[in-house]
Amino acid sequence: MRIPLASSGLRTQDIESVIRVLNSGNLTMGAEVKAFEKRMCEYLNAKHFVMVNSGSSANLLMVEALMRPTLSKPKLSVGDCVLVPAIAWPTTIWPLIQLGLNPVFVDIDPNSLAIDLNAAQYLIDTSGIPVKAIFPIHPLGLALSPSALEKFCHTNELVLINDVCESLGSWREGVHAGQSGVASSFSFYFSHHITTMEGGGIATNDDAFADDLRSMRSHGWSRDRSDAEKWNLAANLNDAKFLFVSTGYNVRPMEIQAAIGSEQIVSLDEFVLKRRNIAKKVNAAVIDTALTVIGNEFLSDSQNEAGHSWMLIPIRVTGSDAAVRKKRIIAQLEKLNIETRPVLTGNFLSQPAIQRITKHASDAASFKHASGITDTAFLIGAHHDLSDDQIDYLCTSIRAAALEI
Ligand SMILES: Cc1ncc(COP(=O)(O)O)c(C=O)c1O
Repeated sequence: MRIPLASSGLRTQDIESVIRVLNSGNLTMGAEVKAFEKRMCEYLNAKHFVMVNSGSSANLLMVEALMRPTLSKPKLSVGDCVLVPAIAWPTTIWPLIQLGLNPVFVDIDPNSLAIDLNAAQYLIDTSGIPVKAIFPIHPLGLALSPSALEKFCHTNELVLINDVCESLGSWREGVHAGQSGVASSFSFYFSHHITTMEGGGIATNDDAFADDLRSMRSHGWSRDRSDAEKWNLAANLNDAKFLFVSTGYNVRPMEIQAAIGSEQIVSLDEFVLKRRNIAKKVNAAVIDTALTVIGNEFLSDSQNEAGHSWMLIPIRVTGSDAAVRKKRIIAQLEKLNIETRPVLTGNFLSQPAIQRITKHASDAASFKHASGITDTAFLIGAHHDLSDDQIDYLCTSIRAAALEI
């Protein structure tokens, strides 16, 4: 038996929707994308959702739209400093660097795996770095507290954008993850809570920001904006389809992706419940061993502060020689056909690319918790496609391995 980190997630109805769209002949961004965006707005309780071809593109557009808005003053300019977590995803960081901003790394909280706001406050208070924004990741299905983020940003006069690419379906303080700040990015890559094969999008309640995202998604043109008519009248062109009002890319999604998304979103709550039950069973299997499921405080039926959506299950080896024992258990699990992987990228400051690019690289070891998690924690799958037999095999195997190390 094999326990993969992820599976395709495509069901008969998803595949049938693709065939329907292919037969319709309408292939590039159109009515299907609009319909999916509407469903995402409803699910997230957001005013706008702008679908793009990946979560990485969503991050890129959010940063671009902060720096080059069409109608207002930029919220960020070249050289500005942006707080990011030391355990990150590359394409949370690269858009900042690519667009001339400075990522300023902050250690993570080992209990949440997210940016540690106390450490961030200490950095602001003591380093003299003129920070302008924060770009937290809501990691692996855990929604960060919107009130804590908003308070932190208010105190320090910071712009907030959220990377929620790993946490669709999660909530905190009664709202979906990412319901704070200017905007939030999501990913529908095939291992995530819902899939559009590749795909992503941005949720925002800011009308002008959403219009800029729509232009920037598609070469910078005006035609998908709510204020397109105004631009067209002002420009007095014969063919307003070819009016370009901002910088841009082509990061449009295809109609087949949106059609799958509309089928999948209907089942999201069911998928999240399934994932949560897998995490619960794994937690029960290892509760009295040297392994700890990170985030297990969100598994109790009585807690109602937050809903964790468990993209994967983060597990930490505790006790003495934890790093050595982690290597041992990973070797054991892989032998049993249970796939494992590092926690996101591990300490991102240790990655060769960031070492080459930023002056922070030599500091990798000083991010104590990021390094500790890298050395002692790992991820296993929690995909909603796992069968009952696979879940039983996973739990029995991981318990046996945990008792051996
Ligand atoms: C935190 C985070 N941000 C961004 C992304 C990028 O999403 P995508 O793979 O859709 O480009 C990922 C990918 O899993 C991620 O984990």
